[in-house]
Amino acid sequence: MGVPSVFKPRSGARKPPATMGHMPTQDQIREALRAVIDPELRRDIVELGMVRSIDAHANGVVDVTVSLTTPGCPIRSHFQTGVANAVRALDGVTGVNVSFDVLSDQEKGALQQKLGRGGGLPTGALAQVAEVICVGSGKGGVGKSSVTANLAAALAAEGKRVGVLDADVWGYSQPRMFGLGAQRPKVSAERKIVPPEAHDGIKVMSIGFFMEEDAAVVWRGPMLHKALTQFLEDVDWGELNYLLVDLPPGTGDVSMTLAQLLPQARFLIVTTPQPVAQKVARRSAEMAHKVRLEIAGIVENMSGFVTPAGDRFAIFGEGGGQLLADELDVPLLGTVPLTMALREQADAGTPLVFADPDDPAAQAIRQTARGVIALTPVELPMMAAAPAAPPEVKPVGMSLPMA
Ligand SMILES: Nc1ncnc2c1ncn2[C@@H]1O[C@H](COP(=O)(O)OP(=O)(O)O)[C@@H](O)[C@H]1O
Ligand SMILES: [Mg+2]
Repeated sequence: MGVPSVFKPRSGARKPPATMGHMPTQDQIREALRAVIDPELRRDIVELGMVRSIDAHANGVVDVTVSLTTPGCPIRSHFQTGVANAVRALDGVTGVNVSFDVLSDQEKGALQQKLGRGGGLPTGALAQVAEVICVGSGKGGVGKSSVTANLAAALAAEGKRVGVLDADVWGYSQPRMFGLGAQRPKVSAERKIVPPEAHDGIKVMSIGFFMEEDAAVVWRGPMLHKALTQFLEDVDWGELNYLLVDLPPGTGDVSMTLAQLLPQARFLIVTTPQPVAQKVARRSAEMAHKVRLEIAGIVENMSGFVTPAGDRFAIFGEGGGQLLADELDVPLLGTVPLTMALREQADAGTPLVFADPDDPAAQAIRQTARGVIALTPVELPMMAAAPAAPPEVKPVGMSLPMA
């Protein structure tokens, strides 16, 4: 007879918490850890089941073990800092120890299932694109397009398969920068637009390919949305490690549309070294936050001019890139000096990284590319192991130009 024990008031209810002082409970710590987001999977580590254990000690020290998807996870330090900061912010915590282990195959399977492929990159034309990186800045003329073209070249030089989407529909410049100005894209048998290829097989798509030279376009909202959607869905991008998107200046419609279409894209902000430019660049960072795109890092362009004799002049000031990177807590991935050759090559149609790999600007961009690669782990084996829907394999036949 009587009430089952679980319904009885707990005798210890009035006892103080087991830990001394005002230590947060396990649940509070777990709640705080929701602030730590896995940059690959775009969810918090609690939801992802990556918090293996939480031990709060009476002296205020908290031990947290995080389970990673791969042992050599390059974003380990991101978790290290994220977890430490989140837990240390709680009242009563005096120290945080973060340790790591690796999810078992079974756990990875469960995670894989939980994630599915939904909410990710659109399937279809982008199904085989591993990473989309939008290159943006608050204003024009800071070298976004030059950085995009040369970064594409540098990634290709590192052996990556690369595409460039010129999303600057008003001031398109990628056709010229890749020497593809006269190209007209063909349409494949599958009725996909085939992007013209530049050096090293870099696939380029731009509204410029469809326009009379220097024709001005007035874009109305829906048309713009449609054009960008087509660039992402109707272009035969094929298998790419990186699709770089050259954004128009500012934080307008194009960026918003792309953010909607590409929820997993990352943002690379180009800025010049002076504090004013940094302020402008910050606005695009705010936009990226608003549309929930992750900021991958900063590239400072036009940082100084080095004379052939080796004297360096800080023409546009100094330090803006680092300041912005610190402020946004993202890496400064490169500082690219002003060089004559960079501009000349852009005008001549061969990215400097190909034309003169020893030029200081080319070197800086190659360094940036290696930073980008380090940030974007080669592959999550768990993701590669069990694709939910294997990419359609279509016979690659001769395509009939319909244009
Ligand atoms: N590091 C650099 N050294 C020399 N010229 C540069 C450099 N970066 C950009 N430029 C030149 O500055 C101009 C603007 O660059 P661009 O890439 O078109 O900027 P955005 O796309 O931001 O408007 C171009 O003429 C380009 O060749
Ligand atoms: Mg541009």
